[in-house]
Amino acid sequence: MSQHFIDDDNRQGARQPERFNPDRASRLDDPARFEYLPPAEVAGMLDAPANSKILDFGTGTGTYAIELARLRPDVEVIALDEQPAMLERLQAKPAAASLPNLKPVLASEISGVNGQVDRVLALNVLHELGDEALQSLRALLKPGGAALFIDWNAEVDRPAGPPRDHVYSPAEARARLEQVGFTIELERLFPYHYALRVHAS
Ligand SMILES: C[S@@+](CC[C@H](N)C(=O)[O-])C[C@H]1O[C@@H](n2cnc3c(N)ncnc32)[C@H](O)[C@@H]1O
Repeated sequence: MSQHFIDDDNRQGARQPERFNPDRASRLDDPARFEYLPPAEVAGMLDAPANSKILDFGTGTGTYAIELARLRPDVEVIALDEQPAMLERLQAKPAAASLPNLKPVLASEISGVNGQVDRVLALNVLHELGDEALQSLRALLKPGGAALFIDWNAEVDRPAGPPRDHVYSPAEARARLEQVGFTIELERLFPYHYALRVHAS
């Protein structure tokens, strides 16, 4: 399974196939993000069961994984990224060290969690995921589990995020997720993002 995450050439299907540039990582820590996408709203949409496992797929610097771990001390939050440079930034944050329920994991080391995750969060990452990575994400979910895809909305003028032609409209995102075998169970719009909660069909 790890090959799905570490093969650079295997991003077929992604709207923006270029790997996220760690030089832009500081943008992920912009405090304005919490105004237009409040972590408590994300946690509410995830609706993780008590004592369950959330995996933040493409955690970056862990901005939201840290908040989820704070908001839900009963839940284990696995912060997954394919780039060691991103996880290093997460681990350098004092908050990360103080949260026993936060576990940074490199994507190449994730084997063994397949079918065991209650909730997957994929935040600002769907446009970067190739079809095989999406299938790998789907395989992480346990029966009855759900994934929450939140990404920049191509239909909205925004002060932040990738250019509009690098991301999906809500309808395009729905179609892509349905194509890889997800059923949409909830949809919501934030000022600059769409959010789609799905389960495996
Ligand atoms: C735009 S950043 C978003 C980071 C974070 N979700 C946030 O919103 O702050 C996308 C992140 O996803 C990671 N990523 C992209 N494809 C991935 C994959 N197949 N597996 C794991 N991480 C991935 C990138 O390395 C990058 O850190």
